[in-house]
Amino acid sequence: MVQMRAVVYDEPFKVSIQNVEKPTLLHPNDVIVKITTSCICGSDLHMYEGRTGAQPGIVFGHENMGIVDEVGDGVSLLKKGDRVVMPFNVACGHCINCEEGKSAFCTEVNPGFAGGAYGYVAMGPYQGGQAEYVRVPFADFNALKLPPGKEHEEDFALLSDIFPTGWHGVELSGFRPGESIAVFGAGPVGLMAAYSAVLRGAAQTYVVDRVPERLQKAKEIGCIPIDLTQGDPAEQIKKLRGGKEVDRGVDAVGYQAVAADGKTEQPNAVLEGLISVVRPTGGLGIPGLYVPKDPGAPDSNSAKGYITFPFGKLFEKGLTVGTGQCNVKKYNRYLRDLIIAGRAKPSFVVSHNLSLDDAPNAYIKFDKRIDGYTKVLLHP
Ligand SMILES: NC(=O)c1ccc[n+]([C@@H]2O[C@H](COP(=O)([O-])OP(=O)(O)OC[C@H]3O[C@@H](n4cnc5c(N)ncnc54)[C@H](O)[C@@H]3O)[C@@H](O)[C@H]2O)c1
Ligand SMILES: [Zn+2]
Ligand SMILES: [Zn+2]
Repeated sequence: MVQMRAVVYDEPFKVSIQNVEKPTLLHPNDVIVKITTSCICGSDLHMYEGRTGAQPGIVFGHENMGIVDEVGDGVSLLKKGDRVVMPFNVACGHCINCEEGKSAFCTEVNPGFAGGAYGYVAMGPYQGGQAEYVRVPFADFNALKLPPGKEHEEDFALLSDIFPTGWHGVELSGFRPGESIAVFGAGPVGLMAAYSAVLRGAAQTYVVDRVPERLQKAKEIGCIPIDLTQGDPAEQIKKLRGGKEVDRGVDAVGYQAVAADGKTEQPNAVLEGLISVVRPTGGLGIPGLYVPKDPGAPDSNSAKGYITFPFGKLFEKGLTVGTGQCNVKKYNRYLRDLIIAGRAKPSFVVSHNLSLDDAPNAYIKFDKRIDGYTKVLLHP
């Protein structure tokens, strides 16, 4: 059995580098990709912190890019040596949801659950790519070809998840060019949502967080930073607008939202803020993750995924709401081409390029959101 190094989840707040079995072709439609870059995601932190049902032994890593190394007999579009980036979604390409462009909700790759992903709890038996190699099923569908060479490595790596996810958050909100938008969360996903709104012609983009380095990045791309430690963010935004609300809002935080002190978890904090700050008949895009079961929830309702929020106000305002995992396939080709054309450079969020062996320490720092750890790229 050939072995490789990989980032393995041991227990809450601990991952280690271990030798695991190197993946092999299991189906004619598989390829094996030799990883050049795999990113750490805020979604990994939910597992890392023991805030999901993830069991020890999972190899993490759903944001994967590399070079095709082995090709199954049934693969038609890829050959050995191709440079590729994979959507975090694993999808079959031909079920009802895949055919309709909703590849995050593929019915075939993870029966009994909507959608699959690499290295993620409940998302199917797909080993993660924070490792030397990853197996890519339905490879013609799940690998996007990139120009050969090393150019734009950081930008292209972000096509696996956060750039499309940020874009999707804006899309889910119903955003149109010329509108104003408030993005809650200036983590990688929030910054990508804000950047997408700027690229798509937002009149004003407000970005809410409490981490200074992250708010600074938002400012650098032309957004208006809102520090939630300085008072209710919705009220701050309305005050800046002479009392007016914004057209659209994005939740790029999810169920582990914190109150202004940065410590007390308040799972409904962002939903409340959005309902307050978005104008009647506006829209909310919610790519931030909510889970049906949270072992570390601050109260018994949120432990079951029951989050309280002012539904009455939402109804009164006639707001629309879009949620869910991003269908990366729907956007990655076009966002790739924006990068190649020099129109988009999402890598401004990347704070650290590290070797795979640095992962255990990087998880600790990224989890604490300290030392400027905004987006970490691992290279085996
Ligand atoms: N839908 C999808 O397909 C998809 C894909 C990737 C990530 N996600 C989810 O998106 C969310 C964000 O991911 P990330 O990588 O940016 O994570 P992150 O944890 O790095 O960023 C979250 C940010 O939210 C800030 N925050 C906390 N409470 C807040 C509040 N009340 N108001 C405003 N900001 C607040 C934090 O300070 C942090 O900077 C996570 O829940 C992640 O699981 C979803
Ligand atoms: Zn991710
Ligand atoms: Zn499918």
